[in-house]
Amino acid sequence: MSDKPEINKPTGKLGVLLPGLGAVATTFIAGVEAVRRGVGAPIGSLTQMGTIRLGKRTESRMPLIKDFAPLAGLDDLVFGAWDPIPDDGLDSARTCGVLSDAHLRQVGDFLGGIKPMPAVFSSDYVKKLEGTNVKKGSKKELAEGLREDIRRFKKENECDRLVMIWCASTEVFMKPAEVHETIAKFERGLETNDPGIAPSMIYAYASIMEGVPFANGAPNLTADIPALRELAQEKRVPIGGKDFKTGQTLMKTILAPGFKARMLGLQGWFSTNILGNRDGEVLDDPESFKTKEESKLGVLEYILQPKLYPQLYGDLYHKVRINYYPPRGDNKEGWDNIDIFGWLGYPMQIKIDFLCRDSILAAPIVLDLALFLDLAQRAGMSGIQEWLSFYFKSPMTAPELYPEHDLFIQLTKLKNTLRWLMGETPITHLGTEYYEDYYRDV
Ligand SMILES: NC(=O)c1ccc[n+]([C@@H]2O[C@H](COP(=O)([O-])OP(=O)(O)OC[C@H]3O[C@@H](n4cnc5c(N)ncnc54)[C@H](O)[C@@H]3O)[C@@H](O)[C@H]2O)c1
Repeated sequence: MSDKPEINKPTGKLGVLLPGLGAVATTFIAGVEAVRRGVGAPIGSLTQMGTIRLGKRTESRMPLIKDFAPLAGLDDLVFGAWDPIPDDGLDSARTCGVLSDAHLRQVGDFLGGIKPMPAVFSSDYVKKLEGTNVKKGSKKELAEGLREDIRRFKKENECDRLVMIWCASTEVFMKPAEVHETIAKFERGLETNDPGIAPSMIYAYASIMEGVPFANGAPNLTADIPALRELAQEKRVPIGGKDFKTGQTLMKTILAPGFKARMLGLQGWFSTNILGNRDGEVLDDPESFKTKEESKLGVLEYILQPKLYPQLYGDLYHKVRINYYPPRGDNKEGWDNIDIFGWLGYPMQIKIDFLCRDSILAAPIVLDLALFLDLAQRAGMSGIQEWLSFYFKSPMTAPELYPEHDLFIQLTKLKNTLRWLMGETPITHLGTEYYEDYYRDV
């Protein structure tokens, strides 16, 4: 492994730019402000609450991650957003209905100060939305417009650095096409308004061109195309994605590695959800759902490795349904029926009924990604940040690699990357205390 990199200090303000000022974005911003005002705790955030074991276990060195790695502090964060719906952060949070009136009273003034910039948006890519707060022009002009927004935001808010995290709606399913192959083809496509270039790609392009790290919280292709991966390398910008790992998929990547570790077979996994927020409405469109479905289905295949274990996982039937059901709002309910089998093939069943809150699970991911992407950039890391796969349903990887989905391997990789960044020895669990070490201290 190469030497510890030099890491620039996190001086000054870090601007967090969010395409999409909906449920996830407003819950994230409100939460950070609640923590800053001392009226909330950042539960679910590894950067704020997690510790990291250093050296030998006998050394008892277990600092908080935020005290170990030079991350930006919450007080240094400022927020900006784009949205085709002109509502400010407070009105949007009220519409989304995630946070209680009591919480909104505590931080509403702050949320109300966040006015979305005109978005790069087209209902060709998100069928169920109409917006009035929208930029006009060719795709090239739209990209220029976003780049101007980024520069203006940075200047007006006196930011030292920026990161961008896509928190906007899921776009229609798209396959990689010729226009995505190289930077030159992509830039020509911007000039000719190629339909293969979705709005999210224009944000990612503008972000990378401005030297701003970019992560994609939705399953859209976005930056996961050769042209933008290459651009990120060329401009030395860290990127990551796709699709925040929350709810049912989070449960899957916790449980499936356990079944596999114990060599228990799986015959079927049926997952269904009801949710009633705007995300649910957008996903009610078959083309947006297809994007999400692909992202949710890949997980088990990679964790279980059916080619290596055909007897255990070769015949697995995996089905995922998402049902838009307005009365439920953001409080999604996800059911899983898992058909497993054990010794001599005897069948067993597990039922899960997860009454979760989507945006409450996603908000800390946005925070951690913002802080870790900024750290990565200050450490000179660029391109796909695989060590942040922990946060994604469909982690981006180099084309020749397969993604790692097992949450616990992902966590080990994340923490070992932090150890390496800070010049500490990575923990490989190769001692005689392998098991105890692995499960207690990763
Ligand atoms: N909440 C979760 O647990 C979770 C998990 C994984 C992924 N996601 C994804 O995160 C995204 C946000 O989720 P949400 O619940 O906040 O959805 P939401 O519908 O509440 O908010 C999305 C916002 O994006 C805006 N938008 C749409 N297209 C845009 C564009 N081109 N530019 C700027 N803004 C645009 C919409 O107007 C809306 O305000 C969705 O794509 C969702 O699939 C959410």
